[in-house]
Amino acid sequence: MIRVGVIGYGYWGPNIVRNFFSIDGFQVQAVCDKNPESLTKVAKAYPSVVATPDARDILESPDIDAVAIVTPVWSHFELAKAALNNHKHVFVEKPFTCNSQQAEELIELADRHNLKIMVDHTFLFTGAVKKIRQLIDDGSLGDLYYYDSLRVNLGLFQHDVNVIWDLAPHDLSIMDYIIQDTPQAIVATGESHLNGHEDVAFITLYFPRNVIAHINVNWLSPVKVRTTLIGGEKKMLVWNDLEADEKIKVYDKGVTIGNRENLHQLLVSYRSGDMWAPQVQQVEALKAELAYFHECITTNTTPLNDGAAGLRVVRMLEAAASSIRKRSEAVLLDQAGVAFKPARTVATV
Ligand SMILES: NC(=O)c1ccc[n+]([C@@H]2O[C@H](COP(=O)([O-])OP(=O)(O)OC[C@H]3O[C@@H](n4cnc5c(N)ncnc54)[C@H](O)[C@@H]3O)[C@@H](O)[C@H]2O)c1
Repeated sequence: MIRVGVIGYGYWGPNIVRNFFSIDGFQVQAVCDKNPESLTKVAKAYPSVVATPDARDILESPDIDAVAIVTPVWSHFELAKAALNNHKHVFVEKPFTCNSQQAEELIELADRHNLKIMVDHTFLFTGAVKKIRQLIDDGSLGDLYYYDSLRVNLGLFQHDVNVIWDLAPHDLSIMDYIIQDTPQAIVATGESHLNGHEDVAFITLYFPRNVIAHINVNWLSPVKVRTTLIGGEKKMLVWNDLEADEKIKVYDKGVTIGNRENLHQLLVSYRSGDMWAPQVQQVEALKAELAYFHECITTNTTPLNDGAAGLRVVRMLEAAASSIRKRSEAVLLDQAGVAFKPARTVATV
């Protein structure tokens, strides 16, 4: 039995607690929130669980093996560090940390104590993303051309981060999982209209082999849209996450170039075949993810959404933030996704 404590019972925390309760092999020992109203909700929903306003009751408890951190991003590092120092496995919300140095430190600490870090990249555990990865891996789409995502709605405004740090981790973690490569350059633009944080932003990522990705994130959209287009050499698909059934539609459409010798006489033919909607597993992603957290701990397996995966996403977020600051200057990245330092200007004498 893995005994867990959950820190943070605001918007997302109740989903984490509910799913821990639904999985055999986890026992929720305590839930912590600084906000008394949240604690009242905990006590009402789960009378058997210790409800505390002090995170140390969880972080330092000898009766807890793993800690879930479901608080705003600025608090992830200190809470995760304390949990690891107290020899507890960590499940931490996206985005992993505020910067890559913090992520590197937590990864090193977990390795030193032989503990697991799992970053909540929830979408990787949806039937839709699993199906997309399968269609890429089995060659159905052919070589990838692009990933283009629209993730917009009205609110929920966050007070500590901009729309990129709030919404883009979803697409960045999905891209990291399905493209299975590191971007070579990132260009981003965004604007803030209300609270000093960008509320509308566009990110373009350039991957090896001409794969290009684009993400549009927006808190000021009148309608909620969660639509992604993924184009490949052989097939293209549209993933509408708001569809109850038929979330993914695969189109047997494409373009063939017949004659490459003479650019002026290119023979372009368009292929337009069938559309099909593959069966997508209906699972609650968070439940599947937490069950996998249990499995990784008990079998001593490295999660696919481990600290390193969280770090890759944080590096992409940092690059996007840096590009926005420089008014859409391209940020070039090395093979590990680390931004190259700008060439220093050599003073002339
Ligand atoms: N995976 C997903 O799909 C998903 C969805 C929503 C939010 N999130 C992530 O979950 C995290 C929390 O987001 P939210 O929307 O629930 O925020 P929220 O502000 O609604 O809730 C956070 C809660 O944490 C509590 N808290 C903050 N610091 C604390 C501390 N030191 N000790 C105890 N309690 C503390 C606050 O009182 C609040 O109740 C963020 O990292 C966010 O990005 C993930």
